[in-house]
Amino acid sequence: MSSVEFQLNGQPVAIEADPSMPLLWALRENLRMTGTKFGCGMGLCGACTVHVDGVATRSCTLPLQGVAGRSVTTIEGLDPEHPLFAAWVEHKVPQCGYCQSGQVMAAAALLAENPSPDRQQVRNALSGNLCRCGTYNRIQNAVLGAAEVGHWEPGAEEEQA
Ligand code: FES
Ligand code: FES
Repeated sequence: MSSVEFQLNGQPVAIEADPSMPLLWALRENLRMTGTKFGCGMGLCGACTVHVDGVATRSCTLPLQGVAGRSVTTIEGLDPEHPLFAAWVEHKVPQCGYCQSGQVMAAAALLAENPSPDRQQVRNALSGNLCRCGTYNRIQNAVLGAAEVGHWEPGAEEEQA
């Protein structure tokens, strides 16, 4: 056991835990941030996607020690004004909802890097985020819709962090 310190959604946190424990475990069990989901635990589905220093990252395969001194953003820390949220509602994206926080975090990282992606770029960026309910077309429509809104400053939620 040792203390691992990092920024979580703009706040400093310190966790006493095995530093080899996956970040996802620390988020859900130690910090009770349950918006980030456990799917496969093997880096294959994207349900556990968070941002680490603004980059979409699988938290199930990243050891806790990997975020020491870094900035982590979960779905709870994403700017509530982010146009993705309104677009998700407008396009009625979720079905069961289980994959959706990972989808939104992957989409937010894409728009921070490329505010005006085309459909193929959206498809490519989110290709590793699986949805057993098959909401892919609605996800893509929502991301493209959010990009069209265009009033969001890329990386704003990371700057708050
Ligand atoms: S739970 Fe992390 S990629 Fe599936
Ligand atoms: S909405 Fe059910 S897994 Fe994606």
